[in-house]
Order: sequence, then C-alpha cells, then structure tokens
Amino acid sequence: MAGASAPSLSIAVMNSGGLGACGALLMQPSSIIDWATEVRAASDRPFQLNLWVPDPAPARDIAAEEEVRRFLAQWGPEVASTAGDAVPPDFTAQCDALLEVAPPIVSSVMGLYPADFVARLRARGIAWFANVSTVAEARLAEAAGADVVVVQGMEAGGHRGCFDADKAEHEMVGLFALVPAVVDAVHIPVVATGGIADGRGVAAALLLGASAAQIGTGFLRCPEAKLHPAWADALANTSPEGTAVSRVFSGRAGRSIATDYVRAATAPDAPKPAPYPVQRGLTSAMRENAAKQSDVQRMQAWAGQSAALARAEPAADVVQRIWHNTEALLT
Ligand SMILES: Cc1cc2nc3c(=O)[nH]c(=O)nc-3n(C[C@H](O)[C@H](O)[C@H](O)COP(=O)(O)O)c2cc1C
Repeated sequence: MAGASAPSLSIAVMNSGGLGACGALLMQPSSIIDWATEVRAASDRPFQLNLWVPDPAPARDIAAEEEVRRFLAQWGPEVASTAGDAVPPDFTAQCDALLEVAPPIVSSVMGLYPADFVARLRARGIAWFANVSTVAEARLAEAAGADVVVVQGMEAGGHRGCFDADKAEHEMVGLFALVPAVVDAVHIPVVATGGIADGRGVAAALLLGASAAQIGTGFLRCPEAKLHPAWADALANTSPEGTAVSRVFSGRAGRSIATDYVRAATAPDAPKPAPYPVQRGLTSAMRENAAKQSDVQRMQAWAGQSAALARAEPAADVVQRIWHNTEALLT
C-alpha cells in the first residue's frame, strides 16, 4: 500500500505467516533498498515489492488547473502555481532498485511491466504478480508472462488498478463476479483482493477459485501500520456505502472514505480533477494541512468497502484470527 507500507507492518504479517508487501510508488530507489534491508533484518519470510506502471504524460490544461487550485484554496492553504508539476520518482530507477533487492515476488499495478523488465525478473527467478481489475486485463497479463494475477474487485480501498485510467469508473466489477470469471479465463493462479477483511471473505474467495487473498484496508488499523490516528479511527465507523470512488485526490480513480471534501469535490458544480499525477500535486498542500490538524474530512483517507471490519489489533493477531476462521469455515 503506497504511503501505508511501514516495514513494521510487513514484518509482523510475514512473521505470522502472511506475505509482506511494499507499495513503492512514492519511494526513491535508496528508500526501496532501505525498506528491504530493514524488513530482512527482522524476518527471513517472503515479501513483494510493488510499482505502478506509469501512464503516458498527462495533457496539461493550465486554465482548468487554475480552477482546481481556486477550489482547493477553500479547503486548505493557497495552492502554489507549480504544485501540479510534481512528478513521482523515476520508474526505470525504481525497477533497477527492485532487481537489486531481488525479493521473491515483484508486483505491478496500473498496467504491465515492459518485456525487457519481465525478462530481467525471470532471469533472476523473481515471480511477477500482475494486479488486474477485469477479465481482459487478466488475459493480457497472462500473455505478457505474469506468473500470478491479483484480481482487484471494485470494493477495494485505494486506487483502482485499471490499465486504462479512463475506464476506471466504467468497468467497476465486484469481486464475486470477477474471481470466477478470471479463474475460468486464465491458467495461472489467481489472488483475490477487494473488500476482504475477515475469515468469511477469505473463505469465500477460496471457494470462488482464488488461490490466496490479499488484504489492504483490513490491516490499516493495526498499530504496526502507523497510520494517522484520525484516518485509522474513521475506518471503524465507515459503512460500505460510506466510501466512494473518485479522482479528487490524485487524478486516478481510487476508493476512500466519502468525506466532506470528497463529496464537495465530486458535486456537479465542482471543477473536474486534473489528470494523474497533476491532481496529486495540486492537493498536496491540503492533504498535509489536514494531516497536521487531524482533520479526516480533508485527508486522503483511502478505505475499502469492508473498512469497518478492520480491527485495531496487532497484525499478527489479525492474520492468525483470519486464517483460523477461514479454516473453520472451510472444514
Ligand atoms: C492505502 C492503500 C494504498 C494502496 N496502494 C497500492 C499500491 O501502491 N499498489 C497496489 O498494487 N495496490 C495498492 N492498494 C490496493 C491494494 O493492493 C488492494 O487492491 C486493496 O487494498 C484491496 O482492497 P481492501 O482495501 O478492501 O482490502 C492500496 C490500498 C490502500 C488501502
């Protein structure tokens, strides 16, 4: 989970039998290497490193950005005229860092890795898990050489992993329909993710044909996740319909708590968000200010539809309870 991948969370999950994970999107290569060094010092169990495959450079519309900046100034500090210029770390350098760390698994989201990187992963014996959100994307991933597809239902917290950003709101498939459809369409193992946060969800995913389940929001209240307390506390009171998919934080569609800012920024009279990553840069001042003031209504509070199932308990207890309950349901 980019921005929510504290080493302590992965260490706790790995040492209790799960797979650790680092969403490295926002990390410079040196930070990726430091993350892996810290995790390896505390656990010899497997983990994955994850990157977003970059979209083509966005078309800039300065007049439209100006409208968004004016709107955002009602929700936080004035937005600097250069705020939309911020770009994520260099993808190629991040890929090199992944190869240097050489974890057992590297995963992708928002698209497919280039063929030369896939070949380099393969040469080092690193498995490639490709996140997909439709049957068509799963087929493309398999054809491109993915070893596993991670199937993301539209219930999921955080960004939707659609290859084509424009389709995110039009191809919203729930996990109950998506898992069996992908299991029938590909020959590689399928991991289910999106709205799974307890043994019932994992058991259902396995019955639908998944080989494993991936959990995001369900770990966000664990102390090892070190989440902002205002966000962690708000998850406990978030109903499935209390979340919303929008582009108002980053310009890419993602599911968050439907806060006051999300509702206002998605109202018909609000300016259309700028494309990714421009909108992320434009909202950065508001998000930082909101975090300082512990104001969840303006924070980027990602949340899946099962947010209320997340427990404020040590991650090891969460993993063990979920697996125990899964086994009980399946035997
Ligand atoms: C805070 C947050 C950050 C996320 N960042 C990433 C990411 O960087 N890469 C990725 O592949 N998925 C990311 N996801 C999506 C998860 O991989 C997964 O699809 C999602 O958490 C599953 O839904 P759930 O949150 O209901 O468990 C993120 C999810 C959350 C909640």
